[in-house]
Amino acid sequence: MHETRRAILEAIADGPVSGPALAEALEISRAAVWKHVEELREAGFEVESGPDGYELLEVGTYNGEAVEFGLEAPFDVEYHDSIGSTNDRARELAGEGVADLAVLADEQVGGRGRLERAWTAPSGGVWVSVVNRPTVAPAQAPLFTLAASVATARAAREAGVDARIKWPNDVVVPLDDEGAYEKLAGILTEMEGETDRVEWLVVGIGVNANIDADDLPETATSIREEAGDVDRRLFVQRLLEAFDDLRSDLESVVPAWCDLSLTLGQRVRVDRPSKAVVGDAVDVTDAGALVLETDDGRVTVTAGDCEHL
Ligand code: BTN
Repeated sequence: MHETRRAILEAIADGPVSGPALAEALEISRAAVWKHVEELREAGFEVESGPDGYELLEVGTYNGEAVEFGLEAPFDVEYHDSIGSTNDRARELAGEGVADLAVLADEQVGGRGRLERAWTAPSGGVWVSVVNRPTVAPAQAPLFTLAASVATARAAREAGVDARIKWPNDVVVPLDDEGAYEKLAGILTEMEGETDRVEWLVVGIGVNANIDADDLPETATSIREEAGDVDRRLFVQRLLEAFDDLRSDLESVVPAWCDLSLTLGQRVRVDRPSKAVVGDAVDVTDAGALVLETDDGRVTVTAGDCEHL
């Protein structure tokens, strides 16, 4: 966000401030203050001009500037009303050297899921892809995916949804005590790097937020269905802040994931590219792999499609 506009918003968020006072504090002309305020209004911020000056009544909009305002994490936000896939755009920006940027969209018309599946992403969801340039080895990349699922589940829980995590990274809502669920959110992580070094990591997060269940696949649910509509600006801020905390402390990720896991303790089948394995999910390794107790002993699976049996 433009630094002067951010400073104006911060100044007028807690009560009215006069144009001359803003001009003096920011060392700009009164005409420039007026112009910035007009631009803020055009961007959707509700700014009142009263006898005591300008006052921010409500952010009242969902776009890049609105999400950046009040965000306590170091991300710039690029917003699109409609886009093919936020992951595609984030990959493009990552290739240009960008870091700590979140690409956000109201709607995706070419949303992508794991395993080359399509991802339904109508208007009203939270579709966001974060560009990271961490100094980690590729083996640690799965921790970023787990971190995103923990951050998403935490934000959903704050919104009143009983969100849990199905290994490795589906955020789901339990339907019973037997491990049945409906899917609330999914994560698609894509990376570029060498054998010993990650160059960039794009973590794409798709949350079915303010969407009718009828507009989603049959096995999916949404925040609207579970708890009513959420303020997407505040939701994505909490999500990005939690993700930033977790990625800055990778050792905290697996314990936090275990606390929210719906998979641990379940009998599961993991379809791996080589062959399927069935067993009881008993643990997760430091790198986020799932440990199964099978008839033939313990098996550790690093990737695959996991079904609760
Ligand atoms: C899955 O569960 O299969 C992963 C779904 C990931 C969807 C998100 S929405 C934001 C980002 N952009 C995409 O095209 N995909 C991810």
